[in-house]
Amino acid sequence: MKKEQNKINRRSFIETGAKATALSLASPLVGLGARSMDKKRKLALVGTGSRGTFLWGKKLLDGYGRYVDLVGLCDINLKRAQFSQQYIGAKTPVYHADEFDRMIAETQPDAVIVATTDSFHEKYIVRAMHLGCDVICEKPLTTEAEQCQNILLTEQKTGKKIITTFNARYGNDAEEIRRIIMSGELGRIISAEFHEYLDTIHGASYFRRWNGRIKYSGSLLVHKASHHFDQMNWWLDAEPETVHAFGDVAFYGKNHSFRSRKCRGCPFQQKCDFYWDITKNKKAMQMYVNCEDEDGYVRDSCVWDNEIDSYDTMTVQVRYNNGTLLNYSLNAFMPYEGQRIAFNGEKGRLDVRIYSRQPWQTENKNEFRLTKNFQNTKTWSVQIGKGGHGGADSALLDMLFLPSQSDPLGKLAGSRAGVLASLMGIAARTSIETGNIVRIDDLIEFPLRWRW
Ligand SMILES: NC(=O)c1ccc[n+]([C@@H]2O[C@H](COP(=O)([O-])OP(=O)(O)OC[C@H]3O[C@@H](n4cnc5c(N)ncnc54)[C@H](O)[C@@H]3O)[C@@H](O)[C@H]2O)c1
Repeated sequence: MKKEQNKINRRSFIETGAKATALSLASPLVGLGARSMDKKRKLALVGTGSRGTFLWGKKLLDGYGRYVDLVGLCDINLKRAQFSQQYIGAKTPVYHADEFDRMIAETQPDAVIVATTDSFHEKYIVRAMHLGCDVICEKPLTTEAEQCQNILLTEQKTGKKIITTFNARYGNDAEEIRRIIMSGELGRIISAEFHEYLDTIHGASYFRRWNGRIKYSGSLLVHKASHHFDQMNWWLDAEPETVHAFGDVAFYGKNHSFRSRKCRGCPFQQKCDFYWDITKNKKAMQMYVNCEDEDGYVRDSCVWDNEIDSYDTMTVQVRYNNGTLLNYSLNAFMPYEGQRIAFNGEKGRLDVRIYSRQPWQTENKNEFRLTKNFQNTKTWSVQIGKGGHGGADSALLDMLFLPSQSDPLGKLAGSRAGVLASLMGIAARTSIETGNIVRIDDLIEFPLRWRW
């Protein structure tokens, strides 16, 4: 990014940020414009894969069709977009990715929903804003620092708004943590811990598709950990300053004695613990296998592919601008799913354990423990919501599309939160590649000083 291109000085960026923050805390309408009962919001979707079709297509229209219209569907794979149209059950016109501009011109959406492969988010965010649309973008907002810079510049230039759909803020457990930290019960948070365990089903699923390649996903430090980095930034109400990380491909990829191209037709089906029969999954067959000839996207790729370069084990240390130190780790080959999260405050400690698919008990569970210095400890659980991601997907859609929503916890996330979470993953990746401690401020030219 050339210096002379960057016309926004530190002061105006801070001021713009402060205004946007005030707006977002006052009203969840920021970024989407006013919704009203008598005028439906027109939305176009780019990226009609699983998230696009099932959440931003079907669930959105079934549940919120009174408030929104889906006016266009766009994908690089026209067959998949056609399946999406049929699955959603609407007459929404379908466009190839090359016809994105034509879709916008013909359908005149108020906002574009971006749910493509991560590395292409920025291309559509920027183009949509230039064509006069607001943007609702799946996490991670983007995968590269230059893309973050470009998005922020375009947002400033066009005056259009971006919502980053951090649904992980909307689960009951995440909200409970936010309430506790906001209450001040723990006092100043001196350090925090976040350990993510992805199991041999969920974790492995990333290594069967594009997510296993850094050039498409930015690595799991961006693709997956952006959820957790964003949660931590939001819980702590603080900004990351410096990042150090280690990471390896230590389990999948090259770490095996046999491999093939994909599970279908693999000669090692009988002896591979990770053999996955996609032919038994009707939706996956319709959405991916039947569309394979169009773009060569193989959904059941071999988890032992030598080309896999996305780390499956990683540790990250972060220092925040308020002095809090974060210790983060992610392992993607665990025998069960879950998280271990803790906050060490000057008045006590909060421990949170979240389990799913654990072999020793049948139900998904969370456990909260708050221990005050020199006092007792108390434990409790919060109810896990129903539906996708523990009820978080529905809660996010409610917030975005139902009228008269309030946002006392500040869950609605804009471009700033999206950029910061992506930059933390990018900084961690850079640290792994270079061995250096990476300053977030060195990654893009805008000073990152605002509260959101
Ligand atoms: N918030 C969440 O909980 C959550 C959950 C799942 C996925 N996601 C996000 O949703 C997005 C989609 O993930 P998914 O699981 O649906 O993946 P997917 O592979 O099922 O779908 C991706 C779609 O993007 C299309 N695509 C790829 N390159 C394109 C391009 N250049 N132009 C237009 N379309 C292109 C593909 O053809 C495919 O249809 C990702 O950004 C992912 O991070 C978020």
